[in-house]
Amino acid sequence: MEMVPWIRVLILLVACLFPASVECMVRHYKHGIRQLRTGWADGPAYITQCPIQPGQQFIYNYTITGQRGTLWWHAHILWLRATVHGAIVILPKHGVPYPFPKPHSEKVLVLGEWWKSDVEAVINEALKSGLAPNVSDAHTINGQPGPVSSCTSQGGFTLPVETSKTYMLRIVNAALNEELFFKIAGHQLVVVEVDAVYTKPFKTHTVVIAPGQTTNVLLTADRKAGKYSVIASPFMDAPIAVDNKTATATLHYSKTLTSSRTFLTAPPPKNATSIATNFTNSLRSLNSIKYPARVPLKIDHSLLFTVGLGVNPCKTCVNGSRVVADINNVSFVMPKIALLQAHFFNISGVFTDDFPGRPPVKFNYTGTQPINLATTTGTRLYRLAYNSTVQLVLQDTGLITPENHPIHLHGFNFFVVGTGLGNFNPNKDQNKFNLVDPVERNTVGVPSGGWTAIRFRADNPGVWFMHCHLEVHTTWGLKMAFVVDNGKGPNQSLLPPPTDLPKC
Ligand code: C2O
Repeated sequence: MEMVPWIRVLILLVACLFPASVECMVRHYKHGIRQLRTGWADGPAYITQCPIQPGQQFIYNYTITGQRGTLWWHAHILWLRATVHGAIVILPKHGVPYPFPKPHSEKVLVLGEWWKSDVEAVINEALKSGLAPNVSDAHTINGQPGPVSSCTSQGGFTLPVETSKTYMLRIVNAALNEELFFKIAGHQLVVVEVDAVYTKPFKTHTVVIAPGQTTNVLLTADRKAGKYSVIASPFMDAPIAVDNKTATATLHYSKTLTSSRTFLTAPPPKNATSIATNFTNSLRSLNSIKYPARVPLKIDHSLLFTVGLGVNPCKTCVNGSRVVADINNVSFVMPKIALLQAHFFNISGVFTDDFPGRPPVKFNYTGTQPINLATTTGTRLYRLAYNSTVQLVLQDTGLITPENHPIHLHGFNFFVVGTGLGNFNPNKDQNKFNLVDPVERNTVGVPSGGWTAIRFRADNPGVWFMHCHLEVHTTWGLKMAFVVDNGKGPNQSLLPPPTDLPKC
């Protein structure tokens, strides 16, 4: 293997071993890690492995090649990632500076979501009734909701700073079902990285971050000494959603008296789509000589996937129907053995590789009721040749209500070459794609009643999950997987499974 074991890795909250090469012992999915040829260590249950049973152990062994930045890890079965998650910070190669002045220090901020009840009971109850699950009881910043919450009267997380110093905040959205706004009273933030890829720096008062995404910002303590509130509040434009909870932390200048007042900031309205659009439209790849944006220009597979919610009949459900979610009208059914095993050992009958590259029916994707209410089900994959290039347009559908879908692809980074509202129009919209410096990431929001176009190169053989990172939508079936065949050259094939891979 020509992988370079040079990266210093710091895994927070997980046990980690540092032998001669970088090998980490972590449980569950490493969100966004591009581990070439070792899909066995990716982690999603029944996609790349069967779950680790109580008392069992499995060592995730993978090499990090060329990546650096903020990523994270989380449990990848049922709703367990609500509490089982943590940040992964990959530092640059020793001696390689950031493409911006070195911050005085760095802080990880993990945004989360908390239910007072058992999350498994919450989703099981919803699946039984066919209705949407209860929303969470609190949002959290580093595990604490802060004072404005029904859960606690405690003060919340404190972020200490010194006047005139600059800090890098590594923000992770680990919430299950909420996109979030993030703000600090009185301070501007400079965005420098998303999903472990540098961006052209830009200033903003509000960061918009979907579940699955990470964002690094620089914060300069340039205000008068004092306490400033730090907030994370929901961004939701689904009309049915009811969630107004704000998590609060405090930015605390040293030399500030504990008694002094806190400067507050109001959360944006939860449906402030213009703030979200301004933010995402400002994201650009750095695209410098050192960090070029390698956007695929020649496309082998041009795909159009509709993503959305629908309803299927259900006799035992409250309304005689249940909410389902689908991609191209296929609601994904989890297999009984891991897809990667079935692929590697040629076990038939586990999946088919006939996932439709286009929606099966032509209809107005947004704003109207669909012609076909019944969604099909299946364990269908889309097959890609090694190193082939893909353009994928993700079109939100309005079957029940249009909603933002943060779509996450395992195993790859992709370039977000275009986005818009309404129906994607190939003749008109394609000419406007940004093929020069589009942002590169692993999770992208498909806007409500709109579309997003991404491009990637299938240079990682194996089976790679793609799903909405709103956990409730994943549960309802908004997921599929790509199977990427081996290449013919050296170092282009999936390695054999590790001997301790959990048995199904
Ligand atoms: Cu972070 Cu498949 O998810």
